Amino acid sequence: MNIILLGPPGAGKGTQASRLVEERGMVQLSTGDILRAAVKEGTEVGKMADEIMKAGKFFPDELMAQILGEHMDKLDPETGIIFDGYPRTARQAELLDELMAARGRTLDHVIELAVDEDALVERITGRFTCAKCGEGYHDRFKQPKVETVCDVCGSTEFKRRPDDNAETVRTRMAEYRAKTAPILPIYEERGLVSRVDGMADIAEVTESIEKILK
Ligand code: AP5
Repeated sequence: MNIILLGPPGAGKGTQASRLVEERGMVQLSTGDILRAAVKEGTEVGKMADEIMKAGKFFPDELMAQILGEHMDKLDPETGIIFDGYPRTARQAELLDELMAARGRTLDHVIELAVDEDALVERITGRFTCAKCGEGYHDRFKQPKVETVCDVCGSTEFKRRPDDNAETVRTRMAEYRAKTAPILPIYEERGLVSRVDGMADIAEVTESIEKILK
């Protein structure tokens, strides 16, 4: 099964994708994570992505698709993919069709996480991750069980994303409204879209997604 998780910044795409990975053995392909890894490695792509991400703008469509295709090629063809943060533009939706067709894959579901944008700024600016294992936390919604110690790996180092400040978040939201939300009708016409209340508790959101996938 191959699915897209769609929603504005902070909607919970990454959170839900990692739960589906654990529960269903699917693979999460997050274009944001792929670009952040390139930034960390200091590659040419990373240098370009760093500036774009800090500004809250989108990385170029064709190059993003090429990079995503390379990641898809590393996967076992039988493993289901969760696309997290892709596609983000009408052109990316076309390119995804090409990437899937070339690999004999089909898209089964597009799950829209419906959220209240005002609440998202708090979600994003309160978010942090373990610097060692990447487990995600939140100042208010998901704190480590022991303060300053990662629940998963015991590390005491945490980090915050440089694009998680209020100003950049506003640009990211505007980009979503202008370029990403308009691609929903493309998938609605194909009967692929299901909406989930992304404002519910994290576990409840997972349950709603599970119902759709079953
Ligand atoms: P990306 O990394 O994809 O960021 P995003 O889409 O802005 O989404 P986020 O990761 O901020 O949010 P999320 O929906 O995953 O929420 P999360 O689960 O973390 O992209 C970053 C940048 O990379 C883009 O701006 C762009 O520059 C570039 N880029 C990426 N893909 C691209 C592409 N395809 N083309 C071009 N450029 C691209 O949740 C947020 C917080 O809320 C967490 O702390 C979590 O614990 C908490 N939370 C989650 N769910 C709930 C809930 N139900 N209740 C309470 N708290 C919750």
